Amino acid sequence: MDATALENEARSAIAAAADTDELEAARVRFLGRKSDLKLALREVRDRETGMTLNAVREHIEAALAERERELAAAALTEDVDFDVTLPGERPPLGHLHLITQIRRAVEDAFIGLGYEVREDREVETVEYNFDKLAFPDWHATRSPRQTLFLDDTRLLRTETSPSQIHLMEERQPPLYMVSIGRVYRRDTIDATHFTMFHQFEGLAVDEGLTLADLKGTLLHVMRALYGPERRVRFRTHYFPFTEPSMEPDVSCPLCAGEGCRVCKFSGWIEMGGSGMVDPAVFENVGYDTERWSGFAFGMGLERTAQLRHAVPALRPFWENDLRILRQF
Ligand code: DAH
Repeated sequence: MDATALENEARSAIAAAADTDELEAARVRFLGRKSDLKLALREVRDRETGMTLNAVREHIEAALAERERELAAAALTEDVDFDVTLPGERPPLGHLHLITQIRRAVEDAFIGLGYEVREDREVETVEYNFDKLAFPDWHATRSPRQTLFLDDTRLLRTETSPSQIHLMEERQPPLYMVSIGRVYRRDTIDATHFTMFHQFEGLAVDEGLTLADLKGTLLHVMRALYGPERRVRFRTHYFPFTEPSMEPDVSCPLCAGEGCRVCKFSGWIEMGGSGMVDPAVFENVGYDTERWSGFAFGMGLERTAQLRHAVPALRPFWENDLRILRQF
């Protein structure tokens, strides 16, 4: 038997195998139990021939393995009519919800001012949501028509203001904090109202704080959120826990105060509530009203999102409508 001729014959058969079936046939033909090589190996008497034939066997095995790899690689791109060298499709990556993005922007602005960021419970008590914030008995928000009560003493907080009380009961001034989270109201659902939304609540208590500090703080934060051209103005108002109370307006970030549909052609947007902490609230937490003064404010994150991105409807953000959320 001519070992070299056999090896050459096997190599060409293996190279010619067009699929795994043909390759298997070649393996059986050249290395199978009844193949010439196996029969010859069984007959071997001298060491020389044995070494030669075993070398041929190893070469054929290697050629089979190599061809098998080639066929497997070819199978991957078989039936494919695109350019496999093009970059692949990107797997979809999620991103932060717009409200989370805004929340972080608000946190950043206040952290930059040295404020601490806190979160408090959403299930509150009447005591913390109303009584300690000096809400009078007759206040309309105390009604189950406006507020979601769990029982006589517990409710879903209607504002983040109870955080003021929690913090002041925990520590003595100086305090500079912002509290961010969900609040709940019994609102009728429409494009811009929902039973839940988000607020950020600020509280500063120190010696000698004045309205000027409140205004400067809000100006800084509004500029951080809406750009360096923002202006802030106050309109007098009433809140149970501040005296005097004010509603801050920010110059419209969409028209820069020129007047547009969003600001109803006034050039100003109402941002929420604010004021100097009412001494009655300090008394409720046992603070010395002669020594400490403070200011507080509360605003909606959704409103902030709306103004930063000029979105007319907020409902898609609460309902997690991905067609809308993907755009921000
Ligand atoms: N809690 C008020 C609201 O939800 C907003 C508010 C007004 C917060 C005045 C304050 C404040 O801290 O001083 O309508």
